[in-house]
Amino acid sequence: MTKVAIITGGASGIGFATTQLLACAGYRVGIADLNTPLAIDRVAELTGSGYEAFQLSLDVTNREECGTALEKVRHQHGLVTLVVNCAGVAGRSQIGDAASGAGWDRNIDINLTGSFNMVHGCIGQLKASGKGVVVNVSSVVGERSGFAEAGYAASKAGVIGLTRQLCRELAPFGIRVNCVAPGYIETPMLGNNLGDVKSWMDIHTPMKRLGQPREIAEAIVFLASDAASYINGATLPVDGGYLCV
Ligand SMILES: NC(=O)c1ccc[n+]([C@@H]2O[C@H](COP(=O)([O-])OP(=O)(O)OC[C@H]3O[C@@H](n4cnc5c(N)ncnc54)[C@H](O)[C@@H]3O)[C@@H](O)[C@H]2O)c1
Repeated sequence: MTKVAIITGGASGIGFATTQLLACAGYRVGIADLNTPLAIDRVAELTGSGYEAFQLSLDVTNREECGTALEKVRHQHGLVTLVVNCAGVAGRSQIGDAASGAGWDRNIDINLTGSFNMVHGCIGQLKASGKGVVVNVSSVVGERSGFAEAGYAASKAGVIGLTRQLCRELAPFGIRVNCVAPGYIETPMLGNNLGDVKSWMDIHTPMKRLGQPREIAEAIVFLASDAASYINGATLPVDGGYLCV
């Protein structure tokens, strides 16, 4: 039976690298991304190469929309067995900035509440599959402070807490919930800060380089696979050693 995976933020950066690897691993992949035109292009790219892919229009902050879209997936594409919560934003939440209140809300709503909303929206399907998997995407900034701001750091620490708690609540249903904590990865999210981040890498990361999206995707695909069948509630740093120093 074809396994259905939903990847939020699946049109860009780490999310798209994950979508590509999951498609190669035989999943029917659903790209759930706010950037609909890019998601449509990505689906065309994947189906053009012979993979099974589809696009879902949803904003992870809208709980009702997540539930409706995921129910539609069940009818059109089959039971959702894997959710990768990769949609995320950073920035505009430095304490003291005029816009920091709105920035805080945006980071918490998308990065943390969005991850909850997606699991909430397909919990029935994950339970019904008997072998559901959730992989959340936190950040080294959720474990420690870093080149980021208050709202981002708190949201990503929250994702680690959510992972642990969901592990306890969902293990009885055969569902595993794990998390990756990427270091600094070369994606559009780093955007205009790239120069500053590269100098930060030289000082703070033993491997002295940025990571590539595929290096995070490989860890996500591993956690999703049967090879990780006894790993549950864990947060795996994929950070070139950042958390060691
Ligand atoms: N790039 C890094 O250095 C880094 C480091 C640690 C963690 N992360 C995390 O990895 C994840 C992916 O980041 P990336 O670097 O690939 O970023 P990216 O900007 O390339 O991709 C993020 C995607 O999320 C989508 N998105 C944003 N808000 C959304 C919403 N409300 N609903 C649905 N989709 C939405 C965007 O449209 C975009 O396609 C994020 O959670 C980010 O916090 C990134």
